[in-house]
Amino acid sequence: MAILPIRIYPDPVLRVKCRRVETFDDGLRKLAANMVETMHAAPGVGLAAPQVGVDLRLAVVDVSVGEDPAALRVLVNPEVVRREGSETDTEGCLSLPGITDKVDRPLAITLKAQNLKGEPFELDAEEYLARAICHEIDHLDGILFTDHLRGLRKERVRRQLKKLAAEQEVAV
Ligand code: NI
Repeated sequence: MAILPIRIYPDPVLRVKCRRVETFDDGLRKLAANMVETMHAAPGVGLAAPQVGVDLRLAVVDVSVGEDPAALRVLVNPEVVRREGSETDTEGCLSLPGITDKVDRPLAITLKAQNLKGEPFELDAEEYLARAICHEIDHLDGILFTDHLRGLRKERVRRQLKKLAAEQEVAV
């Protein structure tokens, strides 16, 4: 396994609408394993394939950050089929270092996805897990958490993103 470089804003791959996974092979399993290792090393609670430069509908989520193996979720072609309630809480993103803000998300969701063998499953998630999953699914559609901000928060984050983009230009 390997730790992959995480793509940072404004990398264009973060704005791509990712393709559905159609081939469930060793390449997919290796990518997922590397994404899990990369997420745990970061450390983070979720990582989506475009964040490591791959435009596929694949995300990994682990709200225990490696503490509890049972908490790991690998989501292939995930789709939210039920949303209930809403809750506002703080989010950050490994692709937006240094930026956090409050985002509205559903309090509970039901998800349809496939595992790494292509087998379909359903998952009910609440609160923090639901939030993490919604955040990662957004990535698969090229959406960043900052896109959800409105009003003064939007203005503030616009300045932060501009600064981050300028730093990335210097880094390259
Ligand atoms: Ni993110």
